[in-house]
Amino acid sequence: MARLLFVDACVRGERSRTLKLARRFLEAYRRAHPEDEIVERDLMEERLEPQYPEVLAERDALWEAGRLEEPMFAPARQFAAADKIVLAAPFWDLSYPAILKIYLERISVTNITFGYDESGRSVGLCRAEKLLFITTRGGDFSRPETSWMESGGGHIRALCAMYGIPSFQLLCAEGLDDVRNDKDALMARALDRAAVLGAEF
Ligand SMILES: Cc1cc2nc3c(=O)[nH]c(=O)nc-3n(C[C@H](O)[C@H](O)[C@H](O)COP(=O)(O)O)c2cc1C
Repeated sequence: MARLLFVDACVRGERSRTLKLARRFLEAYRRAHPEDEIVERDLMEERLEPQYPEVLAERDALWEAGRLEEPMFAPARQFAAADKIVLAAPFWDLSYPAILKIYLERISVTNITFGYDESGRSVGLCRAEKLLFITTRGGDFSRPETSWMESGGGHIRALCAMYGIPSFQLLCAEGLDDVRNDKDALMARALDRAAVLGAEF
């Protein structure tokens, strides 16, 4: 039995197209892997505090004392222990909503999700073999002239390298707010892809 961690940062909830893709993916995943456990983390409900000075001070004090079992580090421990990870977030301001960044800051804890070897080199400590990032974008950021501006998937991909997660995958529907596009057709294609990925993941 594998444990899949699903982190939901789809701020618009049931109106979110990104969440629709994620739900389609999870449906197909459940069908293909009925024995697996899917653990969901809803960041809108959770409302993790940003690392304001006092939050960071508490975190540093606990870390210095070696108290990595404290609740403050629970999100990092959960992330590090998952066999497979799915993050879902819309494309906002060229990346993703701040609630996801807050979560990523919370899970980036030395000696839990990543660390350093004797020579000082960074090593990933996460168990997961793969991470899927699901997103939808208003514009098209896969074209050569716009892809350099895309800072969401690119950042998550880099974090996978830091966490030691060898496979980063992206499921993305884009150009959904461009009046020249048929957004229903774009979403239909992405939903089909979500179902295929869910069965294979
Ligand atoms: C606060 C906010 C910021 C956005 N920023 C961008 C952006 O920088 N570039 C873009 O192409 N679309 C942007 N969009 C459009 C969304 O990426 C697009 O509508 C997406 O499908 C929304 O996902 P959702 O339906 O899961 O909420 C933004 C939308 C919102 C609400």
